[in-house]
Amino acid sequence: MLSLTLAGLELRNPIMLAAGIMGTTGESLKRIAESGAGAVVTKSVGIEPKAGHSNPSMIEVDCGYLNAMGLPNPSYKNFQDEIDEAKKGGVPVIASIFGGCSLDFSEIAGALQADAFELNVSCPHAHGYGAEIGTDPDIVEDVTRAVKSSTKVPVWVKLTPNVTDIKSIGLAAQRGGADAVVAINTIRGMAIDIESGYPILGNKFGGLSGRAIKPVAIKCVYDLYDVLDIPVIGVGGISDWKDAIEFIMAGARAVEIGSAVGNNINIFSEISSCMEAFLEEKEWTLDEIYGMAHEV
Ligand code: FUM
Repeated sequence: MLSLTLAGLELRNPIMLAAGIMGTTGESLKRIAESGAGAVVTKSVGIEPKAGHSNPSMIEVDCGYLNAMGLPNPSYKNFQDEIDEAKKGGVPVIASIFGGCSLDFSEIAGALQADAFELNVSCPHAHGYGAEIGTDPDIVEDVTRAVKSSTKVPVWVKLTPNVTDIKSIGLAAQRGGADAVVAINTIRGMAIDIESGYPILGNKFGGLSGRAIKPVAIKCVYDLYDVLDIPVIGVGGISDWKDAIEFIMAGARAVEIGSAVGNNINIFSEISSCMEAFLEEKEWTLDEIYGMAHEV
């Protein structure tokens, strides 16, 4: 009842693991797949190994988490084994990839064997990467087009909310040939230790995730649904089945969960079964609630 085809991928349900959490090893990705996720997205990998920002790189704040990991990763050249192990979980494995230019992205996408790619043009705290290139529509279009010509699998583009008009970035991804967009990455944020007066994160600022950003993400999904022909995948603050339903009503074809996985690895199966019960009680299908909030 929850199965769907999403931009060419067959999913048993629309609840996926977001990039950045439990996505560094094939074992942890497989574990998430076995716990009920419809698909899993890896931690972002780039051209060369990267240590990331200094600690503290992730802290809990009142309303969620602030992270400034700095894209730590072992390089795509050391990552295929992890993807292959993750595939044993039996659900699509999407490789999140980042680079500083279209050549970087196409090199990685041309080399890795994944079921789809998610282009990270939205990390808010990595110099030369992520949102530093993902806020320019021309670069987003160029990067997307380059990846599309290097791979036959679906290409998703993960968008930053740290822009005035996310629709123009989504449209650029669509022009470049994206099969879907993912909205949203984290919102730029900062915390200060009042005992010392210093910023807490090693990088001084980072990206806010968790419950606080859900209304922002819902509005971005709603706006993107209005202007795009390709599917929108919603992410940002989803903590329970009601949040997932809300995203789908806003116009998300599927959703990804990040921060909330830290507290509950069974969240995928719990959300799926509650969503099914809700749809049954209301006598609605997944298709019927998709974009429902636009009908009023
Ligand atoms: O630093 C990180 O790994 C986070 C990436 C992101 O926010 O996209």
